[in-house]
Amino acid sequence: MAEQPSIVIKGGTVVDATGERVADVVIVDGAVKAVGADLSADRTLDATGCIVSPGLVDVHTHLREPGKEEAETVETGARGAALGGYTAILAMPNTTPAIDSAAVVRQVLGLGRTAPCDVFTSGAITVGRGGEQLAPMAEMAALGVKVFTDDGAGVQDNRLMRRAMEYAVGLGVTLAQHCEDDALCGGGHMHEGEWSARLGIAGQPAEAEELMVMRDIALARLTGCRIHFQHMSTARSVAMIRDALAVGLPVTAEATPHHFTLTHAECASYDPVFKVNPPLRTEEDVAAVRAGLADGTIATIATDHAPHTPESKELPFDQAPPGMLGLETALALALTELDMPLGHLLAALSWNPARAAGIEDRHGRPVAAGEPANLCVFDPEATWTVRADAMASRSRNTPYEGREVRGKVRHTILAGEPVVIAGEAQR
Ligand code: DOR
Ligand code: ZN
Repeated sequence: MAEQPSIVIKGGTVVDATGERVADVVIVDGAVKAVGADLSADRTLDATGCIVSPGLVDVHTHLREPGKEEAETVETGARGAALGGYTAILAMPNTTPAIDSAAVVRQVLGLGRTAPCDVFTSGAITVGRGGEQLAPMAEMAALGVKVFTDDGAGVQDNRLMRRAMEYAVGLGVTLAQHCEDDALCGGGHMHEGEWSARLGIAGQPAEAEELMVMRDIALARLTGCRIHFQHMSTARSVAMIRDALAVGLPVTAEATPHHFTLTHAECASYDPVFKVNPPLRTEEDVAAVRAGLADGTIATIATDHAPHTPESKELPFDQAPPGMLGLETALALALTELDMPLGHLLAALSWNPARAAGIEDRHGRPVAAGEPANLCVFDPEATWTVRADAMASRSRNTPYEGREVRGKVRHTILAGEPVVIAGEAQR
């Protein structure tokens, strides 16, 4: 194969798991060729004032294909991801049909092959995400699936969850849990508390999440299974994970930008754009999630990017589906709202999630000669205003419309190819 033109990313500051240095980065044939001072190549990408980091990794993306292509496709979701600085995303299985068999895994991976971001998929734990019968995890694991979850719902049955964990240990895969006790949440549309009472909207108590976190920590102890806690939203959930880590249990956790930036008070607008599962919680919960991110209890920031069509999000609060867009705003919200050193923040957005997804061989790598060129170049000081209309997503349900944020993606490089240049998607 003919050599592709070489590229130099010039004038930036490289930040990766090994530290921080001012350096140019040369890319040849999909890999980093050199990192150092005064480098040149056939083609130059300007990184003046920018951070050059490993590409971001999202372990919680809802692509709506197959089944709800009017809300998002693999391609539009991946384009939004690339614009947000992501080079890898992990698709959630709550599509129609659910991603619960080798056939659907193959379909989604096939659709992702030409996307401007590496598309990995999770598989469902139970058939149809129905919570009654274990899905054929082995045939999905044979295709490279490393994370299994019924996301959109939690596995309710204790005995079935134990069996799933034993199965997962045998396969060497991770289970991820959407922690929500259906019996306690049933009929609720927001966090149960002072605002739900005032607004007359039925609530979902924090305890509905916490009971499942507690159970799964117990089952991880019993089975030795690696468990990843998705979108942690309450102070007591964070505390339980902190304690589980302290005694060496194999747990990891993620938090979303909306759970570290927004509270249940937003629901006072009755605008379903603020409806999400788990729901927006109290100020104390938001503070605890931020503290969990700061001390590493929550090692990963995940978007829970959940596109929904305008028609569905224009329904009354109690009828609209839960979920918010996330891929194109996550980095900026983290930079704007979290008071953390850049290396720590990028750990949570790149190399920690790469490890959680089992893709650390290609993503979240150090920026060094010989490594795959999956990179994100962003200006940490550039400010911009969030506009749904400017997004690549097919949907418009961002809760941050009109908000001024800091931190803008300039270029995204996927396997050596600039898929975003100067903030513009190239394909
Ligand atoms: O708000 C949510 N939306 N939470 C979920 O768990 C599922 C997601 C979706 O698929 O829309
Ligand atoms: Zn979920």
